[in-house]
Amino acid sequence: MNAELPEPSPEAAESSQALCAHIATEIKAAGGWISFARYMELALYTPGLGYYSGGPRKFGEAGDFITAPELTPLFAQTLANQAAQVMAASAPHILEAGGGSGAFAADLLLALEKLGALPDSYLILELSGELRARQADRLYERAPHLLGRVRWLDSLPETFSGFVVGNEVLDAMPVHLIHWQADAVQERGVTLDANDQFSWAERPLSAALATYADTLPVSAPYLSEVNLAARAWIAGWADILQRGALVLIDYGFPRHEFYHAQRDQGTLMCHYRHHSHGDPFWWPGLNDITAHVDFTAMAEAGFEAGLEVAGYTSQAAFLMNCGLTEVLASKIDPATPGGDAAYFTQSRAVAKLINPSEMGELFKVIGFSKNLNAPLIGFARGDKTQTL
Ligand SMILES: C[S@@+](CC[C@H](N)C(=O)[O-])C[C@H]1O[C@@H](n2cnc3c(N)ncnc32)[C@H](O)[C@@H]1O
Repeated sequence: MNAELPEPSPEAAESSQALCAHIATEIKAAGGWISFARYMELALYTPGLGYYSGGPRKFGEAGDFITAPELTPLFAQTLANQAAQVMAASAPHILEAGGGSGAFAADLLLALEKLGALPDSYLILELSGELRARQADRLYERAPHLLGRVRWLDSLPETFSGFVVGNEVLDAMPVHLIHWQADAVQERGVTLDANDQFSWAERPLSAALATYADTLPVSAPYLSEVNLAARAWIAGWADILQRGALVLIDYGFPRHEFYHAQRDQGTLMCHYRHHSHGDPFWWPGLNDITAHVDFTAMAEAGFEAGLEVAGYTSQAAFLMNCGLTEVLASKIDPATPGGDAAYFTQSRAVAKLINPSEMGELFKVIGFSKNLNAPLIGFARGDKTQTL
């Protein structure tokens, strides 16, 4: 079915086969079935073999997809204005969830240095050992004098005050699949067929999923995802965050659009060397697996747990509110006021970040705060919290 996708190298294929054997063993031990959420967790995060915990692939031109911090340093440089505001109103600390290649951390720290607003500490919550090493290398290359402020965490801290940021982290959290049919609502999970290959199998919903599924505006037949892990992760911050704000950027929609009648096959997507496809059983461990984010669910989870919803808007509006235009203008070389080649490269990347037909509207930003008196600058104009 995926004949057009490039075949992996022999080493990559071997690593994927080892991961398949590991997942198959778990399916057998579990009695022949695991939830898709568990499958996704194993495919992405099995130590040494999972997509995010395995070999050097993933981000950038040579990887599988490009995220905003990889596209242009202006993304982090613009977010620096938001980080500085939150730190001034809370505490001089930053926690970045899912640090990617380290580009975001390096660009954000260097921009904050220029603003005279460096954090005392920059914590990177990173599940992958391989990515931690890459992030440390990148920071060493780009900002060696700031490396002393950076520390890595493998789990959430007990308490934190300051600015928390995560770009494309919620979409990488494992989702459950729910299949609404006329006569039953079931959970779609993963089993093994007669040849020990992964295949789909459905089971009755657990009590937690059934309660949640009942609240969703869906009519059968319909297949979609629910991201209980992301809800729990956000709710967890209500206890952790003492004073400050969380800013989470990702692709997705408010609930009524997420569960739109036309999106009746859900939003699950895999990325492999800049190709998108819909088969999560194709070379597990070599493909990113993601689902779009239901931002209403995220807002509800945070609010119910005790966080304030500080705002929700498009990536374009958020970046403009944080001064993207001024950051771009500062790159104009006075010697070539009409713009030089580097400036044009940056302005093309900026257009991609804010263009409604590229990342500008599909990507959203949601903010949560606690004990913070200042409204976040990123939501100053065009806040769409009421659409959630
Ligand atoms: C698509 S990548 C984005 C990386 C980077 N932020 C960027 O924009 O380039 C998703 C990242 O989220 C991380 N992630 C997923 N679940 C996480 C969790 N519960 N806590 C922290 N990081 C998580 C993954 O390990 C991975 O680094």
